[in-house]
Amino acid sequence: PDVALIDRYQRVATDLRVSLTDRCNLRCTYCMPPEGLPWLPGPDLLSDDEVGRLVRIAVERLGVREIRFTGGEPLLRPGLVDIVAAAAALRPRPRLSLTTNAIGLDRKARPLAEAGLDRVNISLDTLDPERFVRLAHRRRLDDTLAGVAAAEAAGLKPVKINTVLMRGVNEDEAVPLLAWALERGYELRFIEQMPLDAGHTWRRDNMVTATEILDQLKGAYELLPDPAERGGAPAETWLVAGHVRPDGAPAKVGVIASVSQPFCRACNRTRLTADGAVRACLFAQEETSLRGAMRAGVSDDELVRLWREAMWGKPAGHGIDDPAFLQPARPMSAIGG
Ligand code: GTP
Ligand code: 5AD
Ligand code: SF4
Repeated sequence: PDVALIDRYQRVATDLRVSLTDRCNLRCTYCMPPEGLPWLPGPDLLSDDEVGRLVRIAVERLGVREIRFTGGEPLLRPGLVDIVAAAAALRPRPRLSLTTNAIGLDRKARPLAEAGLDRVNISLDTLDPERFVRLAHRRRLDDTLAGVAAAEAAGLKPVKINTVLMRGVNEDEAVPLLAWALERGYELRFIEQMPLDAGHTWRRDNMVTATEILDQLKGAYELLPDPAERGGAPAETWLVAGHVRPDGAPAKVGVIASVSQPFCRACNRTRLTADGAVRACLFAQEETSLRGAMRAGVSDDELVRLWREAMWGKPAGHGIDDPAFLQPARPMSAIGG
């Protein structure tokens, strides 16, 4: 690359998260209200070609090596397979992953793998069908489970499962979910709930913390520190003693403690919203739209300049503990996780 995405705190963004739609077919309470949200109008979304151009610039010019497609629900994007194929054709070839609720993945896992997708992270907060309905306001647990199985069968490995634990809702499922994941060779990660829900109802004292989660897990499993380099990964991982994955590698479990143990100092992320804005941070108050510039006909050089400028202003951290903390105006589904 001719330049890197560096910020004033000397962090370098090599990991790009691209939201491909703000729509979703679930309504997880920590993300979206049951009635949904006012979706972005179609013309505001980046086209497949516009996504392709920005992804190419990120890889060829800005040093991005990992690309994750998110949403809303990225499987709802009609051009997803083509977008993945275009990204896989870039050199140096970026690593490609998807964060999804897996509904519809039973049909799309194979075409996605053939297009060059490397792996998937799947959101799953409960194994109980009734609880799933309460949590996500849709009766779709079977669809998600079918998607998980299809991802594995298509070789999209390691399959990672993301679980947000919520007090009084699913906090009693930490151990059963881990047992389920270990049996199948999936890497389960528990996520502390962040203040990103559309209703702005998040309260810190209501959050199930990493410490509580680990205490629960340690009651049933022996966890050993993972010697692997963490890098900029949000998850702190542990090896689960006595358990191996089907390929013989040690089984792992992770905790993403964004709130109680922020990893902002090691953050290596840059983000594109579905409507083509660079967000330097999940919690940034400012965005830089590249869509307008692209549609006004600017050169790649100018997009490189705008993207670097946007990242230079990346905040030091999310500031959730700051009394003056302001939740971002956009909910998770529009930012792209
Ligand atoms: P891996 O490469 O598989 O480790 O992916 P990931 O964990 O980075 O991505 P995923 O989309 O599965 O996200 C898991 C959780 O981490 C979600 O709750 C995300 O919102 C959160 N997350 C991802 N990136 C960031 C980040 O830059 N900052 C914070 N605070 N949370 C993040
Ligand atoms: N806090 C933490 N994680 C969240 N996710 C969605 N909303 C939140 C939130 N408020 C998770 C989803 C998905 C990933 C992209 O982010 O469960 O796995
Ligand atoms: Fe949809 Fe993901 Fe939000 Fe759940 S967290 S409502 S799956 S976008």
